[in-house]
Amino acid sequence: MTKLTAAPVSAAVTAPAINVPLFDLKRQQQRLHARIGERLDRVLGHCQFVFGPEVEELERELEKYCGARHAVGVSSGRDALIMALMALGVGPGDAVFVPAFTFSATAGSVAATGASPVFVDVDEASFNMSAADLERAIGEVAARGELAPKVVMPVDLYGQAADYAAIGEVAARHSLVVVADSAQSFGGSVGNRKVGTMAQISATSFYPTKPLGGYGDGGAVFSDDDRLAAEVRLIRTHGRQGSGDEALRLGMTARLDTMQAAVLLVKLEEFEKDLAARRRIARIYDAELKGVVQTPRLAEGIESAWALYTLRVENRDAVRQRLADAGVGTGLFYPLPLHKHAAFAPFVRGDEKLPVSEQLAKDVLSLPIFADLEDNEIAHVIAEVKQAV
Ligand SMILES: Cc1ncc(COP(=O)(O)O)c(C=O)c1O
Repeated sequence: MTKLTAAPVSAAVTAPAINVPLFDLKRQQQRLHARIGERLDRVLGHCQFVFGPEVEELERELEKYCGARHAVGVSSGRDALIMALMALGVGPGDAVFVPAFTFSATAGSVAATGASPVFVDVDEASFNMSAADLERAIGEVAARGELAPKVVMPVDLYGQAADYAAIGEVAARHSLVVVADSAQSFGGSVGNRKVGTMAQISATSFYPTKPLGGYGDGGAVFSDDDRLAAEVRLIRTHGRQGSGDEALRLGMTARLDTMQAAVLLVKLEEFEKDLAARRRIARIYDAELKGVVQTPRLAEGIESAWALYTLRVENRDAVRQRLADAGVGTGLFYPLPLHKHAAFAPFVRGDEKLPVSEQLAKDVLSLPIFADLEDNEIAHVIAEVKQAV
């Protein structure tokens, strides 16, 4: 019988010197604890847990921040997208063009309305929707004649706004409405235009790890269009107007709750400082890693909200394992393009050519980037990435 021998244990030698998590929500929470506590205490005092005064206060602050005429607080980013589409009257038989390389909620929101997501490839440099491939996809849908092209929904991946100028031009030529999936990019801008004002209607997410994240689910819809904003306000509360009983249209239970608004009001006060800290980290990564790996490429005039700092690397999975061994947390956003998800099989014909999305799904790797990251942690990440590649 073979004698089992214990593997040599030398934790002191093999354990990484420091562990850098991909996200650490605790640090910011500790920094803002007293102020958030005060805000939450006020909510406990008035007990208006739904449509409390904090919701309206936040909506006005969000409007001021991004310059949109209307901000409507809602229950999540996905619900924000669904309600934007519902307000536009999108439904069965309609085609909504989405990038193939994004989070599943982008296409999931489309399917939830009964409309069909149509997948469009992304650009090699920005990883955002390719205007040229959008043109191709619209042409194909029109030629088949089964769906009515209605909406294009670009995504601002990792915090960088999509190319709304080029996509808007294609959309206008084909009479499509642009709905921005800005779930990852609130706080970002193009020139002097902030995210929230890039499209006829925009949606963002306040999921905890987003640039402006709450302590649970939340989101917002932005628009300059009074009618669309009023429609979203109706939809988020069962299609009812104020305290009226009658459902004026089909709606949802999709309000931003008062507790989340209270947390977000404090976080919004800190937002510019936190964004500046993320931008500084991105600049350091850029300077140190350019030439070592493919670092993010931002189009002219763009300020990213840096939801994620994402590299493109060969042998991604091996690099990721080496970083994990060295105590560096990383993330894969996203390892599967949408046309390969089981849920979207009904919308896939099988002859899709989305080569950039398919390659990116194999190559991308996101590094830690959050405001409270320490300089020694940034240095550790950089040193270990250099080693790992
Ligand atoms: C691109 C994109 N769209 C939509 C969503 C959905 O947002 P939420 O998680 O708030 O529903 C997310 C969030 O993860 C996202 O990253």
